Amino acid sequence: MNQQWWHSAVVYQVYPRSFCDSSGDGNGDLKGVISKLDYLEKLGIDLIWLSPVYLSPMKDNGYDIADYQAIDPRFGDMNDMRQLIHQAKQRNIGIMMDLVLNHTSDQHHWFKQAKQSRDNPYRDYYIWRDQTNQIRSIFSGPAWQYDPVTSQYYFHLFADAQPDLNWENPAVAKEIHQMISWWVEQGVAGFRLDVIDLIGKEIDQGITENGPRLHPLLQQMHQACFKGKKLVTVGETWGATPEIAKLYSDPRREELSMVFQFEHAALDWHPEHGKWQVQDFDLIALKKVLSKWQTAFDGDGWNALFWNNHDLPRIVSRWGNDGEYREASAKLFATLLHGMQGTPYIYQGEEIAMTNVQFAELSDYDDIEIKNSYQEKVVEQQSLSHQQFMQGVYQSARDNARTPMQWDNSDNAGFSCGQPWLKLNPNYQQINVANALANQHSVFYHYQRLIALRKSSKYSDTLVYGSYQLLLEEHSHIFAYIRQYKEQRLLIVANVSQQTQTLSLDFKLAEVVLDNLQPEDESKVGVDLAQLNLAPYQAIIYLLAD
Ligand code: NOJ
Repeated sequence: MNQQWWHSAVVYQVYPRSFCDSSGDGNGDLKGVISKLDYLEKLGIDLIWLSPVYLSPMKDNGYDIADYQAIDPRFGDMNDMRQLIHQAKQRNIGIMMDLVLNHTSDQHHWFKQAKQSRDNPYRDYYIWRDQTNQIRSIFSGPAWQYDPVTSQYYFHLFADAQPDLNWENPAVAKEIHQMISWWVEQGVAGFRLDVIDLIGKEIDQGITENGPRLHPLLQQMHQACFKGKKLVTVGETWGATPEIAKLYSDPRREELSMVFQFEHAALDWHPEHGKWQVQDFDLIALKKVLSKWQTAFDGDGWNALFWNNHDLPRIVSRWGNDGEYREASAKLFATLLHGMQGTPYIYQGEEIAMTNVQFAELSDYDDIEIKNSYQEKVVEQQSLSHQQFMQGVYQSARDNARTPMQWDNSDNAGFSCGQPWLKLNPNYQQINVANALANQHSVFYHYQRLIALRKSSKYSDTLVYGSYQLLLEEHSHIFAYIRQYKEQRLLIVANVSQQTQTLSLDFKLAEVVLDNLQPEDESKVGVDLAQLNLAPYQAIIYLLAD
């Protein structure tokens, strides 16, 4: 495999509105991010994926962009952006911008023009039809919005304030390429491409995802913007299978570095109600999915590894235990993920095991997806009761990940001295960065150790490039796998349950590399795994000697 610098990189996602507010207006901002760069350097990350900071009416928290080349005043200005890029670079941290290319805001000047008349030069930047079809918006309701001024419908896969761009129009591709190249000139290290699998759509055929024009469009983009540059790119692709993922990330095809696949992330969703009614966690199913992805590529693709992002609930609440075993289970999921092959992504707050939140009222929530889904499922269809829906919100809603970052136990968790745009999780009194940094056994230091193992230890090659082999496939509580590179073999074994598990593995003379419950035992040697007792949520990395 051709080695790339981003194979061994670790990425940290910042959701800027909720990260750190320097101005006191209740919204996080770029100066706030700059003020936390030392913290991120201490964690050991290489890249920051910065969720959108562009000018936006914030109908979908910045995923509705009104100007790709301007910073929203809530976040600061272009000088702050340049400072962020510069100051991060001084700490060997690169900035990945979030490119939302499937749609813009309805406040983008292209759309404002397009709406004016059917023969406006920008009309064809968007998708207009005299009649609608059956396609539904991902944020509920029809994907078509009637425009009375020009008596046509425009297409929007997300909110009606997020009209889809028409990628069949070469002028759109040209403008977007110029914009991306401009960001490259500003010195960014790469890009995350929002719902990129939707840009090749064939609407009249009813095809939205993985359309026929998708890969040619990405190849053009690569030629125009990425080729020959030291950049990393990751696509958000909810509909990817391993075969599809290779189309994006096989280096010979010159499209993207890697993609986020979501097969594991949607495993417990209900067939009809999706995330609003989750089903029991099934470890065997999770192992199957992740192992399939671990073994899918042999140099013709690369995995992006993640449990969390701004669209998903917190892993420790979802599949871990956010009560008695919060720290242990958070470290366990960290160990499992960082032990795998691929580029790991950490979402802000994950490194201190921030949890889901339960607000009493629907009005305490901000997310447009929650509001639209409530309207559809509870009010219109009455397919879920209010209580059922709120249960779904507590388990899966996106705002679980978006409550402000918990820095310390002062007012508003040190996030802001103003009124935060979204309420805090009240548990910030205990769960916060200051507490984590003060305790050598905290989740933070476990992440720091995992990152250091991957990047600069005698195990780095094995962790980054080693092969993967699942053990105990049908065990419903143990997740165990081997990574091997040349002669070196690492065993990652984790007890994903609240009961002690005893197991017998056919390996002798193992050495403990990292134990989530006893970090001080790092040098334990000569362990015989024939009789292994794993405490609740214990996760250990062993070096195997035989
Ligand atoms: C995916 C983003 O991650 C999500 O937050 C957003 O709402 C949609 N794309 C629309 O841009």
